[in-house]
Amino acid sequence: MKVSPSLLSANFANLLPDLEMINNSECDYLHLDVMDGVFVPNISFGFPVMKAVSKVCTKPLDVHLMIVEPQNWISQVADLGAEYMVFHQEACTHIHRTVQAIHAAGMKAGISLCPATPINTLEDIIEDLDQVLLMSVNPGFGGQPFIPHAVKKVNQLRRLIDESGSKALINVDGGVNAETGALLAAAGADILVAGSYVFGAEDPEAAIHSLKVL
Ligand code: DX5
Ligand code: ZN
Repeated sequence: MKVSPSLLSANFANLLPDLEMINNSECDYLHLDVMDGVFVPNISFGFPVMKAVSKVCTKPLDVHLMIVEPQNWISQVADLGAEYMVFHQEACTHIHRTVQAIHAAGMKAGISLCPATPINTLEDIIEDLDQVLLMSVNPGFGGQPFIPHAVKKVNQLRRLIDESGSKALINVDGGVNAETGALLAAAGADILVAGSYVFGAEDPEAAIHSLKVL
């Protein structure tokens, strides 16, 4: 399993030790949650903070934009050297155009779906995607309980990806721990995002390891 710890649950008053932990750990990416107070009822951090983080973090960045008009921020995300730019299907009218523009900026493109957005809305874009980020909580906050219906959506998405020949990886975000992670792994997830489970753990590297082995 690939693991993408979410910085949202790190210590914002002292990020350096948390970033060093990330760099030394077995994780595959660092997940950065950008919120605008419009698409979601919360505001997290923005580009100046992510720029500073990008200079210290040695893991590829998995940038999850929970913002309206994500197409306006492609060059800023590319400037971070991000591997993935992931935006919400519900926040963008011209998804196809935005995916092409993300690719033209040299990044991999991902689309995120809120818990009540059906998988079949991806049918006409799946072949162009590098990642689908399924939300297993309502976006906006860390530490929320896992919505079990997400497991069924991972199954459906696995089928859609395999049938279409898409190279998209299935990423799941929200309420992930070793227990829910095992259900998602069995359903066909490729990447797990985990915030509070990793940064709230007494031994964050061990928490990352417990997801890596799924
Ligand atoms: C929520 C964010 C998540 C969040 C997950 O809107 O997209 O990435 O950090 O936090 P946990 O793992 O604590 O549910
Ligand atoms: Zn996220």
